[in-house]
Amino acid sequence: MKKIVLVCTGNTCRSPLAGVLLQDLLQEEQEYLIETAGISAFPGQKAAEMARRVAREKGLDLSAHQSQQLSDEMVGEADLILTMTVSQARRLRLSYREESGIIYTLGEFAGKSEIVEDPIGQDLEVYRQTRDQLEKLLKAALERVPEFFSQAGDYSDSKNYNRRRHRMKLAIGSDHAGFPLKENLKDWLKETGHEVIDFGASGQDSVDYPDYARKVARAVSSQEAELGILICGTGIGMSMAANKVEGIRAARCQDCYSARMARSHNNANILTLGDRVLGTGLAREIVSAFLEEDFVGKRHQRRVNKIMQLEKELKD
Ligand code: RB5
Repeated sequence: MKKIVLVCTGNTCRSPLAGVLLQDLLQEEQEYLIETAGISAFPGQKAAEMARRVAREKGLDLSAHQSQQLSDEMVGEADLILTMTVSQARRLRLSYREESGIIYTLGEFAGKSEIVEDPIGQDLEVYRQTRDQLEKLLKAALERVPEFFSQAGDYSDSKNYNRRRHRMKLAIGSDHAGFPLKENLKDWLKETGHEVIDFGASGQDSVDYPDYARKVARAVSSQEAELGILICGTGIGMSMAANKVEGIRAARCQDCYSARMARSHNNANILTLGDRVLGTGLAREIVSAFLEEDFVGKRHQRRVNKIMQLEKELKD
């Protein structure tokens, strides 16, 4: 039997809801054991009233739930740990380096670039949205579970252990000027365990950057890839072109702070870089900063919504 642990902060809203939803999706499935916990939980708390209500609306019962703190023992016994946000996953990976290969955000495991925000203190409608988002992500995650466990193997087998490392699905592309840095980043990203789809260019013969921006931007907007990286001489043309594609928020970054902010405040989904501007070392650091960060939502969500509203208005 495989143990799946769903983790949020206090284990009173998101993870208990995810737990009953997953149990419901699994129906009579005997192969999996579901447990929920919080990174900073006060043990013995009931599930939040709103969480109980939205669960009830689906015929699910959270009345017996009691919150619990995630323990070393639970992590040790888990076969898969799914968190709600990137920062929770990052925190667990830092505390449990040996287990980092079984720790994912629910969104990334489901193949979507989404986090599940804390609905606490918000109205019933927000809880309903959280419930529906969880259900959608859990359904998608369940499709990956059998493959994940069949590949995961045993911890004692180092090859299999490597396969269990945290991965993202990334789309990468460049023109001729960005080609050397693209190749360098692609190899390095693969070595660090990410899946990379390379949309070209395939050499240093002169090509037009919008053609490659289009391919990567479309892969990201269609969710074929979670995030994208585009490289030209300066990063400017790539960001201009990618930002014309619906749903894309491409950010040209030349420093790590901007890369972090682009993800955490602007929810950028494509990073653009200039091969003729950056050295390889700095470029790698910028990419790491971009991939590590998590969109923080809240007031920033309102602002990003306004950007997307602008896109919609211009289209109508
Ligand atoms: C190509 O010479 C160069 O113009 C292009 O790579 C890029 O810098 C565009 O913004």
